[in-house]
Amino acid sequence: MNKKVIWITGASTGIGKELANEFSKAGYTVVVSGRRKSRLVKIVSEIKYAEREAAAFVCNVMSERSIMATSKRIREKYGKIDVLINNAGVTVFKSLMDTKTVDFDTVLDTNLRGAFLCIKSVLPQMIKNKKGQIINILSVAANTAFENSAAYAASKAGLLALSNSLREEVRNLNIKVSNILPGAVETPMWDSKSRQKYKHRMMSATDIAKIVVSVAEQPRKVLIEDITIRPIKGDI
Ligand SMILES: NC(=O)c1ccc[n+]([C@@H]2O[C@H](COP(=O)([O-])OP(=O)(O)OC[C@H]3O[C@@H](n4cnc5c(N)ncnc54)[C@H](OP(=O)(O)O)[C@@H]3O)[C@@H](O)[C@H]2O)c1
Repeated sequence: MNKKVIWITGASTGIGKELANEFSKAGYTVVVSGRRKSRLVKIVSEIKYAEREAAAFVCNVMSERSIMATSKRIREKYGKIDVLINNAGVTVFKSLMDTKTVDFDTVLDTNLRGAFLCIKSVLPQMIKNKKGQIINILSVAANTAFENSAAYAASKAGLLALSNSLREEVRNLNIKVSNILPGAVETPMWDSKSRQKYKHRMMSATDIAKIVVSVAEQPRKVLIEDITIRPIKGDI
């Protein structure tokens, strides 16, 4: 197995789906995960139709057991995971007062705890092999203030801090940790009204996916640590 194996979480739609397509075109063996099996199966069958290798696993990143089982199944199937992309994410567009405890917990458990657990599931093998790459899909909300985004911003700022700390722990082991901070991207994360209103100002998921491929494709000694990608007309 010479091809690099990449695990993309939350790949049913949006940025994750385009990451799967672009990494497949770049020659990677692509593993997509998420909760909606039918969407994942469709993505894999399209990749396989182009005679490239891919697999889908149902994985809920709010569940430690689901993450650990998925990571194990990928390693059993392909023998390794070279690159992990923590892409699975949810948001609530609500003021802090309107954010219910359950909203807060869902956003933090998916975006921050889920990424933490996925990293823990792949890191032992990367440490043993002294190589690997972890790419976290954050958001400009990690370091830019927006109204009605307190839980989402907290989750992304938390993951930025976690990621920066992890990078210092593993960079001497040739394990690369990269943060991608996109501004508005036209995906199902936005409701249809906002997508219609701001479509002309939003970036496409393919735009982001192509940049992430270039982050993964740097020479061995080069690490892109953080990339902020904004629409030309700025934030929405
Ligand atoms: N769109 C933007 O403007 C924008 C900007 C900056 C950053 N981002 C980030 O980009 C990432 C992808 O978002 P997107 O814009 O592409 O939105 P999206 O189309 O809604 O994709 C989110 C993905 O996350 C998965 N997901 C949600 N909860 C999950 C869970 N508990 N377990 C496993 N998978 C889960 C969903 O799949 P299932 O429902 O099938 O599980 C879906 O595939 C997110 O981290 C988001 O914060 C988006």
